[in-house]
This record gives sequence, structure tokens and C-alpha cells, in this order.
Amino acid sequence: METPKRKALIELKNYLTHLKDLGYTEIPCETELLANVAQETAQPSLSTNKMSKNISLGAVQKELGDCTRCKLSEGRKNIVFGSGNANADLVFVGEGPGADEDEQGLPFVGRSGKKLTEIIEKGMGLNREKDTYICNIVKCRPPGNRDPEPDEVSACNPFLIEQLQAIKPKVIVALGKSASSTLLGRTVPIVKERGTWHEYAGIKLMLTFHPSYLIRFYTLENRKAVHEDMKKVLKELGR
Ligand code: URA
Repeated sequence: METPKRKALIELKNYLTHLKDLGYTEIPCETELLANVAQETAQPSLSTNKMSKNISLGAVQKELGDCTRCKLSEGRKNIVFGSGNANADLVFVGEGPGADEDEQGLPFVGRSGKKLTEIIEKGMGLNREKDTYICNIVKCRPPGNRDPEPDEVSACNPFLIEQLQAIKPKVIVALGKSASSTLLGRTVPIVKERGTWHEYAGIKLMLTFHPSYLIRFYTLENRKAVHEDMKKVLKELGR
């Protein structure tokens, strides 16, 4: 059961994992925290971080290899690296593969994938394959479609960073709470923060609902909300 104490412990664990991802080996003092764990610096700078290099998506995939860096590798059929245009201006980041994605090795090909394609093609007037790139914060299916755990997110995060570094999109859209929280390095209340602009390593980042949330809570209000969010993205892209 999710007691307040357990919730606080999970948040603390997430936060400490996040600090570890940033390279901290000790808990920084308050002033350092304020200076360094502000939103912008909680993220890699794609031009200055230590992984900054002109890297191709192919090279990132090669580096990922037949990954066994976390326990998600034990139950997967296929790694779901990502799909779409390697030079896209727009990248969607989801949470993690489900059963259909695991089966096919491609992101968003199941029910929520259909919804995402509908949002991109009917809602935004874009072509999913040509105009976007789609990936997830973890590249292997969490068993039973549970949320990815912090150690799994941490193990995969360098590859997400490198993917984004290779693509260098103009806009990233985080789909849902997990993707938003991972990219921003803090727990994001998605209902409150969807539709707002942020920055991820110097790239514009829009937060919106995950397509599966839309399917589950198929209200006019939620559909309108995602439509409004995507209108903002199109405007930013000059389309
Ligand atoms: N949900 C996700 O977050 N990603 C997928 O690839 C499929 C479903």
C-alpha cells in the first residue's frame, strides 16, 4: 500500500538516484544544491556534458548492444530502441514498451501507439515516420507493464541522453508523468503541469498526457488539453 511514509521514501530514493546520475558521490550541501540542482542543471547540456560528441543514432544503438545493464533485460523479447526520423525536429518520449512493443521491437505500436499516431497525424497534420522520432525512457518492457523502477531508468538514461544528442530536435514532448519526471529530474504532477514549456539540455520540452491516460480517461477535457498542447508544439516548430 502506498502510505505517505513509503511515498516519501520512494521520492527520496528517486531523488538520490537522480543525484547519482548527475555524478554526485556525496549529498551536496544546500548552496551547491540550489546552484546545481536547479531545473536547467539537473539535466545534461547536450553541447557541454561529458557525453557531448557528434554521435549517430546507429552508434548509440551499437553501444547499447544486447543490453543486460538492468533486470528488465531478463524478461524482454526485444529491445525497443526507438523509431522514426533520425533528423526529426520533434521527438516524443514515452515511458516504456508494452507487450506489443516488446513483441515487435518498435515503440508505440499497440493501443496507445494508435492513439499517439492519431494525435500526430490527424491532430497535428504530421507524418509519424517522417516528421517525428519516438522513444522511451526505458528500452525494455517492465514486467506486467509496471512503472519502470529508478535503477532501470538510471541504467537506460545515458542512452536516452545520447539519442537526444544524436537527433538534436527542436522540441521534445514528454508523454505522461514518468517521462516528464525523468527528463526534469523531479516528480512532475502531470495534471497540473501539462501544457507547460520547460527546457531539457537547451531544447524546448513540452509536457502532455500519455496516450494511455487519454484512452483511460477519454474525456473531452483531456482530449482538448492534448490538442492545445500539440498546438503549442506546432507553433514552436513554425508549422
Ligand atoms: N507506452 C509507452 O510509454 N511506450 C511505448 O512504447 C508503448 C506504450
